[in-house]
Amino acid sequence: MATIVIRDTEEIIKGQEAVQAFLDSQDVLYEQWDPTKLPSSLQGNCQISDEDKEQILTTYDADIRSLAERRGYKNWDVIALNEHTPDLDALLKKFEQVHTHTEDEVRAITAGSGSFVIKGADVGYFDVQLEPGDVISVPVDTPHFFTLSDERQVVAVRLFIDSEGWVAHKYDDPAFKNSNEV
Ligand SMILES: [Fe+2]
Repeated sequence: MATIVIRDTEEIIKGQEAVQAFLDSQDVLYEQWDPTKLPSSLQGNCQISDEDKEQILTTYDADIRSLAERRGYKNWDVIALNEHTPDLDALLKKFEQVHTHTEDEVRAITAGSGSFVIKGADVGYFDVQLEPGDVISVPVDTPHFFTLSDERQVVAVRLFIDSEGWVAHKYDDPAFKNSNEV
């Protein structure tokens, strides 16, 4: 279950109904896939092989196809980040720059954890802390970035309309820098 933290007010939003209502109000799609569907060897496991990635896609095939059909996503894959990922620190630094994309950024967390930090329509930046089973779609052209939590590992299914749409466009936001400096 995701937890929301609104940065300006430090308000924390928890619980299915409140989280869903808040993300609906921000036009951020939020759903849940059953994390216990995965074979137990893959639950909580972020050091996975290509075969494991295939197994994850097979396990969630119906969920993936349902989401893809509703939202027009055409391709999907699995990404894993963990302590063995080359240059993880440099990669995270790159991730943590506010940016936009010309299509939705869709992630379904299947192991580990991480947060999307999103610029809200009227509430400033908010963190969506995600755990296994959480599915999120950051809308097209919405400033955001992704970061790992303290465990520094995650496995996620990604869905795309067109992989070219996933190019990051840097978003310079003085408001964000100010809120970080305070
Ligand atoms: Fe992004």
